[in-house]
Amino acid sequence: MTDGTGTTGDARPLVEVRGLTKSFGDLHVLRGIDLTVARGSVTVLIGPSGSGKTTLLRCLNSLEVPEAGTVRVDDVEVDMAARPSPALLRRLRATSGMVFQSHQLFPHRTALQNVTEGPVYAQRRPRARAEAEATALLAKVGLADKAGAYPHELSGGQQQRVGIARALALRPRLLLFDEPTSALDPETVGEVLSVMRDLAAEGWTMVVVTHEIRFARQVADHVMFMDGGVVVEEGRPGDVLGDPRQERTRRFLQRILDPL
Ligand SMILES: Nc1ncnc2c1ncn2[C@@H]1O[C@H](COP(=O)(O)OP(=O)(O)OP(=O)(O)O)[C@@H](O)[C@H]1O
Ligand SMILES: [Mg+2]
Repeated sequence: MTDGTGTTGDARPLVEVRGLTKSFGDLHVLRGIDLTVARGSVTVLIGPSGSGKTTLLRCLNSLEVPEAGTVRVDDVEVDMAARPSPALLRRLRATSGMVFQSHQLFPHRTALQNVTEGPVYAQRRPRARAEAEATALLAKVGLADKAGAYPHELSGGQQQRVGIARALALRPRLLLFDEPTSALDPETVGEVLSVMRDLAAEGWTMVVVTHEIRFARQVADHVMFMDGGVVVEEGRPGDVLGDPRQERTRRFLQRILDPL
């Protein structure tokens, strides 16, 4: 479905990942990850640098192919150990839209062109309709007046909001965010988080890597702490962030909340 409310009639969670493993050479980056994401829920993923957060998102989006494990997003199920066909991996990729940390826009295309590129070229949708939809999406992220602007004419926060509109334009069922505010000036972080908050309120299913703990407490339904390629602790934000059970989680939170 395209409205983010997950009304496909399927009662199962939108996302189920079981036993996901991924290595780069000798480096075991994901060591058996399980992840369940309910429809219309927001999952926040936290963890130290190198713990595998980005790799996990990239596996969900088929930008990386894991060695083993299963990934199901809605009705697309992939057994990674069974040499999935490129066509099946493309179907998996089409289920989600990803927003990256930065530098995600084509520099020589306007905001509007950046948002219409995917629908027109990858999804072969009629240009006029894709442009009308892109215009509405830019308005939705507060950038109605910036449709003709090039990325270098936009602030970092505005570029990230175009990136969000671009992900939405592909009509995904799941939105993945990889530290969408970590490269921004402090004063522009809020405008991006505010768009994400609106999307969550609309019922979009989201998996968000972020260390914005206040956002996680306010918006997340579920928080996962990863370290060394495993999920160390997960649960409700009040529990995992407010009163973690694991010493590793506690130490990590102390470090990011009080870095000095
Ligand atoms: N394409 C790749 N080739 C080789 N090693 C990789 C590749 N991608 C990631 N890695 C390694 O895998 C590990 C996990 O990387 P990943 O980017 O998933 O971590 P992360 O939790 O997102 O970290 P950060 O918080 O710094 O973004 C790191 O040690 C990284 O160097
Ligand atoms: Mg990362």
